[in-house]
Amino acid sequence: METSFETQQASPGQRLSLIEDEHSVTSIVEAAMANTADPRLRFIMDALVRHLHDFLREVRLSDAEFEFALEFIARLGQATNATHNEVVLAADVLGLSTLVTVMNNSTRDGRTPGALLGPFYRANAPRYACGDCVVQDDAPGLPLLVSGTVRATDGTPLAGALVEIWQASPVGLYDNQDPNQPDRNLRGCFHTDEAGGYHFRTVRPAGYPVPTHGPVGTLLAAQQRHPYRPAHIHFIVAAPGYRTLVTQVFADEQDKLESDVTFGVHRQLVGNLRLHDHGRSPWGDVPAPFCTLQFDFTLEPGQQTFPKPPID
Ligand code: BEZ
Ligand code: FE
Repeated sequence: METSFETQQASPGQRLSLIEDEHSVTSIVEAAMANTADPRLRFIMDALVRHLHDFLREVRLSDAEFEFALEFIARLGQATNATHNEVVLAADVLGLSTLVTVMNNSTRDGRTPGALLGPFYRANAPRYACGDCVVQDDAPGLPLLVSGTVRATDGTPLAGALVEIWQASPVGLYDNQDPNQPDRNLRGCFHTDEAGGYHFRTVRPAGYPVPTHGPVGTLLAAQQRHPYRPAHIHFIVAAPGYRTLVTQVFADEQDKLESDVTFGVHRQLVGNLRLHDHGRSPWGDVPAPFCTLQFDFTLEPGQQTFPKPPID
């Protein structure tokens, strides 16, 4: 028996919005999202769809490549757990995280550039007095004396500002990655003195690879990229009435600075690292060889906030 379907016919002159070719898809999707109540969400999603559609048309993505890409994204989620976020890592190695950080941290009026918080920030770092040493073990390492001044953009030294630091060891591991390190080794909170100065003693950190066990590692290998970050010290610098600065100061050889797998090395974040092969340290009475690293921070007026630690 024959079944007949009644189709709704467009009245003469009326043209239904239907897909006709690869270009018509974009405007039809945009129209479908046009009633989004939140104007910012509408703006972002509209631009996202437009750019993604243009991208697909530009690279002429095949069905197999599309399937592979979706599987790759699913694998990012599957490789994510309480101590490792592969999605964030993917954003890092594509330069997305650094781009967002650079866009949202103006260097106007001499403000210190921001940098990624990274996955190794932990709460409850030990509190130290200026000049103290953050090394809790006797593992070998080149002594490093770090010092500088915290100022506001108008030049005022900021007394009592918080300077929190964390870093990898001389073998390139954070305390939480290394059963040989005491808990919260190479982490510490300091407060600046009356002149806004801070100084502390540590060991020279090494560069280290980002995790490569997941799909991001596969991508890096396919791109023939090494997975290393150059040696750096993470800083949070905070004072009431000032926008909290989350940043990193780099202390490594020139060639390593240029190939950070996460693209984190802002020109202004390269510290003044010096190796001293004779004499004693300017403070702390450390015999040569030792290194010094000098770095000043400039905070802008704003709100003091504290980042949420990504791990315990
Ligand atoms: C870090 O500096 O701790 C870091 C940043 C991004 C990815 C991996 C590590
Ligand atoms: Fe780091």
